[in-house]
Amino acid sequence: MRALRQPTLDGPAAMELADVPVPAPGPGEVLIRVSAAGVNFADVMQTRGTYHGGPQAPYLAGFESAGEVVALGEGVGDVRLGQHVIGTGYAAFAEYAVLPAAGVAPVPAGWRDEQALGLVLNWATALAALRPLGRLAAGETVLVHAAAGAVGQAAVQMAKHYGAVVIATASAGKHDVVRALGADHVIDYRSEDVAARVAELTGGQGVDLVLESVGGETFTASLAAAKRVTGRVVVFGVAGGTVPVTNWDLNFKHHIHLIGLHIGVLIQHAPHIFGELMAELQELQAAGVYPPGEPTVHDLAEGPKVLAELESRATVGKQALRP
Ligand SMILES: NC(=O)c1ccc[n+]([C@@H]2O[C@H](COP(=O)([O-])OP(=O)(O)OC[C@H]3O[C@@H](n4cnc5c(N)ncnc54)[C@H](OP(=O)(O)O)[C@@H]3O)[C@@H](O)[C@H]2O)c1
Repeated sequence: MRALRQPTLDGPAAMELADVPVPAPGPGEVLIRVSAAGVNFADVMQTRGTYHGGPQAPYLAGFESAGEVVALGEGVGDVRLGQHVIGTGYAAFAEYAVLPAAGVAPVPAGWRDEQALGLVLNWATALAALRPLGRLAAGETVLVHAAAGAVGQAAVQMAKHYGAVVIATASAGKHDVVRALGADHVIDYRSEDVAARVAELTGGQGVDLVLESVGGETFTASLAAAKRVTGRVVVFGVAGGTVPVTNWDLNFKHHIHLIGLHIGVLIQHAPHIFGELMAELQELQAAGVYPPGEPTVHDLAEGPKVLAELESRATVGKQALRP
């Protein structure tokens, strides 16, 4: 089968098409014929070896896929042959992929497989940041970074649904997309001072919650933009680089709640919270708040280019590869 392989940790440009055997599902795993694989920022980080616990090169790339179940490993419970599922595993940028059965979710009725991409990695991550971790309440103000991105778009839509005022950041060319999703204010973080703009928009108070997926200078701005004493900053990405925060900073400079989020760790260590997130996402689908996804779908061979575009901030919304 065709698959994308990363031979060295030299970034997306090194990624190449390869001809590899179709994998066999082990105990507790299922094999799917991949209709579409989701591209995530973590894929970019893995190509450079900067994703904590990521694969060593050479490796078969991709970890999010959706498709039809064509083979079952031993001891697979609820999943049926012929069912259409979305899940995360390994070697997803391929014609067939193995997924742990316990982690797959059915593609919602009436949706195409590709429309379900992002269910966990984008929507559940955004919802976890907003609700169980960020404790967003109606009437509060939330700052959503990278708001035109895959996670960011989900966050803006849900934050508006839950009654928040949304201040978004995005590159200037993406502002119309973010406004169309309902964001109340959009900041071009590349030309404006984010903390100063937030202070202006909130009467000097700061925001109740920041969804911090960017890092670098933006992370520093996020700490300054959060409301003193009660403001929460949920950190779930480091695209723009790492920044140290000390106990001195929290004691004397940034009187805020700093919260770390990794959806894989949440699934493993707080399965009850994950179950609640998935149930809430089903309700949001039924209510039309979470519509079928419309990823930009590219041919598998375009993978290296798509990852390079994701890395250079050229993409808008969810990207997917069709094998
Ligand atoms: N912790 C978790 O469990 C988890 C799960 C899913 C995603 N994430 C993280 O959430 C973030 C968004 O992921 P995604 O897959 O939805 O990607 P994405 O938001 O679709 O794409 C990344 C966007 O981030 C913005 N950005 C700002 N500074 C950047 C920089 N220095 N380098 C690259 N992009 C930068 C760009 O938008 P603008 O041009 O508008 O600035 C870019 O388009 C990533 O940091 C990812 O690692 C974390």
